[in-house]
Amino acid sequence: MIKKGQFIDLEILDAGEGESCFGKLDDGMSVFVAGPVAVGDRVEASVTKIKRNYLEARFTRLLTPSPARVAPPCAHFGICGGCKWQHVRYAEQLRIKRKIVADALAHIGGFAEHPVREAIPSPIEYAYRNKIEFSFGDRRFLLPEEMDAAELDKPRDYALGFHVPGRFDKIVDIDRCHIAPPEMNDALALVKDFGRARGLTVYNTRTHEGYLRNLVLRKSFAGDEFMVYLVTSSHEAPLIRDLDAQLAAHFGGRLTTFVNGVTARKNTVARGDQEFIIRGPGRIVERLGTLRFAISPTSFFQTNSIQAERLYDETLSAAALTGAEVVHDLYCGTGSISLWIASRARLVIGCELEASSLRDAEANARENGAGNVRFISLDLKHYAQAVRSLPAEERPDVVIVDPPRAGLHPDLVAELRALRPARIVYVSCNPASLARDAKALCADGCFRLGPVQPVDLFPHTAHIESVAALERE
Ligand SMILES: C[S@@+](CC[C@H](N)C(=O)[O-])C[C@H]1O[C@@H](n2cnc3c(N)ncnc32)[C@H](O)[C@@H]1O
Repeated sequence: MIKKGQFIDLEILDAGEGESCFGKLDDGMSVFVAGPVAVGDRVEASVTKIKRNYLEARFTRLLTPSPARVAPPCAHFGICGGCKWQHVRYAEQLRIKRKIVADALAHIGGFAEHPVREAIPSPIEYAYRNKIEFSFGDRRFLLPEEMDAAELDKPRDYALGFHVPGRFDKIVDIDRCHIAPPEMNDALALVKDFGRARGLTVYNTRTHEGYLRNLVLRKSFAGDEFMVYLVTSSHEAPLIRDLDAQLAAHFGGRLTTFVNGVTARKNTVARGDQEFIIRGPGRIVERLGTLRFAISPTSFFQTNSIQAERLYDETLSAAALTGAEVVHDLYCGTGSISLWIASRARLVIGCELEASSLRDAEANARENGAGNVRFISLDLKHYAQAVRSLPAEERPDVVIVDPPRAGLHPDLVAELRALRPARIVYVSCNPASLARDAKALCADGCFRLGPVQPVDLFPHTAHIESVAALERE
């Protein structure tokens, strides 16, 4: 009889549900193992849960490494929770991501053996992010091995980095983030040192006191522009001017804009209610293909610019446009998909809730001379009312949806089923939501799901984007 807390050793056979992998005991019992394991490893694990048909366990020790393993480059690997797959060869990551999509379609959507193409790899594996959000914390997270005299001497009430997974109040102090480009790491160090040298206080999530809240860094890869966005609880003009001078001395012309966002909100969202533009235009411009996109501090933009082009090419190809169609681009963010497909459609209407994304989308349409694109401010749970108020010639032939991780609102699914456009292109950042929504859209033969194309925008994480077309039956 296996007991909770017991150590078992087993071979990791494949990726399982969520972020775990699985193996089997000699008697055939499946074990889902959480932690930094790779398929092909022989590991020791400690049993955490005993279910009727399977066990859950936590990785404790590597016994024999898998050939799929590589040495993770990051000093914070295993703690920060950001890039949990750094220890796995990239080709193997892609195989697992494809499997995650296929498994979600089969187990959640009921699409067994559904065609899922090979995942399209990101051309750069590190330093690929065009945006990183760091948080300040007044409770620096220490590992057991950091509890030595030297580390304990350093102040524990000041950290700038990422949240410890599952802990909104504890921050892993980050020295260098490997998926961030070099200037972001320079800005991280500079702002961290500035705050410490000035003795600035850190916002406390329980008392709601303290000054420093978040540091958001954005870079345009093609445009070579760089934004520093510091979120604080108040606007201290002389202090911010001093920080601006230090940033400018370090970065010179490479720092194209610096914005101080100010909020008194009692949450940890990296967003100011008021924005003070200290340097530059308050936006950066990214180029994708021949298009230019202005991006404000809090607007949505795909975080891997180079790979975003591939994602949008897949979206365009799945939309199979002839030039005669009206397309609705739902959850359109800064309008990047709308503009990417505009020259192949008669009319594109983008719908988005977030005001700053919408403002950027409108400016981007003007800047790119896209006369057949327009945007509507809309919470998409009310799409039914919005679409019914449009003249008949503006109702969609093709609908593109690119929702957040939670997927489509049930009222939107119901409306798409009632509206029955010829095609829905689903761009998804969460295979589980895609599977659930595709199942609902396909119920009673309303739509038919085509092959699914995973596109990897997030190397070393378990995240994967997918593009799928649903054809009207
Ligand atoms: C995954 S992003 C997609 C953005 C865009 N398609 C792109 O590729 O850049 C999801 C977008 O949905 C927006 N959003 C979230 N909930 C929404 C809602 N209920 N109604 C409308 N838009 C929403 C977010 O602000 C965000 O811009």
